[in-house]
Amino acid sequence: MRTICFRSPVMLLGIAVILALPSAVSAQPKLSADNIDQVIKAMTLEEKATLCVGGGRAVTTGGVSTGITDLVRGAAGSTRKIERLGIPATVLADGPAGLRIDPTREGTSDTFYATAFPIGTLLASSWDLSLVEETTAAIGNEALEYGVDVLLAPGQNIHRNPLNGRNYEYFSEDPLLSGKMAAAYVRGVQSNGVGTSIKHFALNNQETNRNENDALVGERALREIYLKNFEITVKESSPWTVMSSYNKLNGEYTQQSTDLLTGFLRDEWGFDGMVMTDWGNKDDTPAAVRAGNDLMEPGNAVEIERIIAAVRDGSLPEADLDRNVRRILEYIVKTPSFKGYRHSDKPDLKAHASIARRAAGESIVLLRNEGGTLPIRANGQKVALYGESIVDFVAGGTGSGTVNKAYNVDMVEALTNAGFKLDPSIVGFYDEYVRFNDAVLALSGTQRTYRYGISKFDDPAVPRSAIDLHAQNNDLAVIVLGRISGEGSDRNMDNDFNLTEVERQLVSDVHAAFHALGKKVIVVLNIGGVIETNSWKRMADAIVLPWLPGQEGANAVADVITGKVNPSGKLPMSFPIDFMDHPSSANFPYNQVKTNTPFGTARPAGSNEKDVDYTRYEEGIWVGYRYFETKGTELSYPFGYGLSYTSFSYGSPELKATPDGGFVARITVKNTGSVAGKEVVQVYVNAPSGGLEKPSVELKAFGKTRLLQPGESQVLTFEVSNYDLASFDESASQWVTAAGTYTVYFASNVRDLREKASFRLKNPGVVKVHSPVWGHSTPAPSF
Ligand code: BGC
Repeated sequence: MRTICFRSPVMLLGIAVILALPSAVSAQPKLSADNIDQVIKAMTLEEKATLCVGGGRAVTTGGVSTGITDLVRGAAGSTRKIERLGIPATVLADGPAGLRIDPTREGTSDTFYATAFPIGTLLASSWDLSLVEETTAAIGNEALEYGVDVLLAPGQNIHRNPLNGRNYEYFSEDPLLSGKMAAAYVRGVQSNGVGTSIKHFALNNQETNRNENDALVGERALREIYLKNFEITVKESSPWTVMSSYNKLNGEYTQQSTDLLTGFLRDEWGFDGMVMTDWGNKDDTPAAVRAGNDLMEPGNAVEIERIIAAVRDGSLPEADLDRNVRRILEYIVKTPSFKGYRHSDKPDLKAHASIARRAAGESIVLLRNEGGTLPIRANGQKVALYGESIVDFVAGGTGSGTVNKAYNVDMVEALTNAGFKLDPSIVGFYDEYVRFNDAVLALSGTQRTYRYGISKFDDPAVPRSAIDLHAQNNDLAVIVLGRISGEGSDRNMDNDFNLTEVERQLVSDVHAAFHALGKKVIVVLNIGGVIETNSWKRMADAIVLPWLPGQEGANAVADVITGKVNPSGKLPMSFPIDFMDHPSSANFPYNQVKTNTPFGTARPAGSNEKDVDYTRYEEGIWVGYRYFETKGTELSYPFGYGLSYTSFSYGSPELKATPDGGFVARITVKNTGSVAGKEVVQVYVNAPSGGLEKPSVELKAFGKTRLLQPGESQVLTFEVSNYDLASFDESASQWVTAAGTYTVYFASNVRDLREKASFRLKNPGVVKVHSPVWGHSTPAPSF
């Protein structure tokens, strides 16, 4: 045993302090799920402010390092650690078509690729909640295994207008479909014990000047269309977090709106998670704290200082800060980082690739199939394959929704794998074209960027004489029309919604040359948003719509073309004849500045440009099919449309009113064709007016059968509550389910209403809600 000899009283004192220290340190609480109150009490003001501000902008290759390098490279953001209190940093990464992190890291030859899954719009085209849940469970597993705590997804803004550059990330023009899809997405990801951040809350419906744009929306449209999907998702799936948007809503930044972040989200819908900003904050950080925006992302030191100063000068009650800190701590204790999960960095990418392929195949929409053109057995048939996109197939959109995938199957590979023989002269032509254009960029030291904006080469013209030759040498033609779009800019009407002159000519020449010889023409639409189809669709025998289907999507297209998969996807939005048919087109920047105003680049002082500085949602609730069906507008393809290689009959529905004033309905669906297939049944309701103008029909439920063999049937059941049937009465600040007769349609698409039933509601249902007080400068609009 060692003897300690005390030489002086000073030394004695020193030792007494050292001996006392362990008990002082242990008196400091270390965060656990049951001592959050104690931890908040122990926190200094500086620590509280620090926790509410993210750890800085993500490090991207060549970028500046600001704090989260040591966590997961290429993740979008983090929360800061406070070691003293046992609070670890946590990691936030995009979303939504797969995890976005850097695929390589210095100092290791290991790779960190993620799987590029189908985009949100394609997942929604499946109308299959269990398929979405299964797919996103795989996305969540990649987040978990790469050390990410929250996936910044799903994106669920409503497809108000076809030209929003980010529609590809979002689900639908309909709030019920969007809300249910997002809920399934959240359940899938969160089943891994990692979180989601449903975004962008709310009204981020255009990219043009998205940081400053003021969305001027009436309360009925807001509640019935733009918030309804978030409400459904919050109530049905309890997402860990919500991301507020960049834009303003009725005069106020959404990240500073108490009405939105507290009134609607928490008080009305019962959300009990954390709210974070989108990746950039406004000057008035204390206003965001007060409003209930708990976490500022990506976060910088100035924001911490602003919070501290505001508490010190009394303009920000410390209780508000404490409330937000509590929500952040409640989030942190749920995370894998807090629980010390040892991630493998080795998710099963092979298994996930096959999930991605199946999800794409189950969701692809068959728009046209004249005379049973498809499926086609490959059998070594010779194919003339056209379009820049055949070698430059687009798996997903640009911006934060990009996924760094290990590979991307293109149409050349996919059709070859499936057993077709591709005309090598045509493939060679497109291959050289894309390589040449890449080389031109390389010459000036640049390369195609997939960050913001559109980085696809225009289709080159193909001489008619060559097409005539191809028609002689091949058995059929496949044309791939491609579009890329994404974060930071909107699409335009002239050569993005509408086909370019070169594309138009290609379709028409291929149609003329191949049809003259009795050979078929198939068009594949590799697009992120709706395009014009009416003027040229009759020139194609079949049209296949895979949207942007992920890294295995081209294989899924081949699966549908050859009949390995019987298509069962249906459109989650309407395809109009003309862009201007959408009422929102009157208030959408389709031929102005298309880009977002970058941070730090202010709009000219006092600028007040329509559809850029502000956008009036004058169409109110008349979005998508709600408008088209009520007006009887001619469409190219209606909402909910999609063909199958088999046919289905619907039996007589049974419908029972429920005690709460809703209904339960059952219908039998039978496969009456000759191959196995799945059918999506859509339940639309026509409601009595009760003094309000209402759409002729609204989607109130949907279901998809399992794979039914020929002759096999399945009963689908739908439950709709009284509240689900309500419309919002602005004048009385209440949801009202009007008394009267409700007609319930069972439909294959919104224009193919197969069966109907009805029920009477004796007494109206009423749910009173709070009246929002909008932005200081702008009165609530009345449309
Ligand atoms: C996007 C978000 C994304 C975030 C982090 C923002 O610019 O709007 O959707 O999650 O960046 O990358």
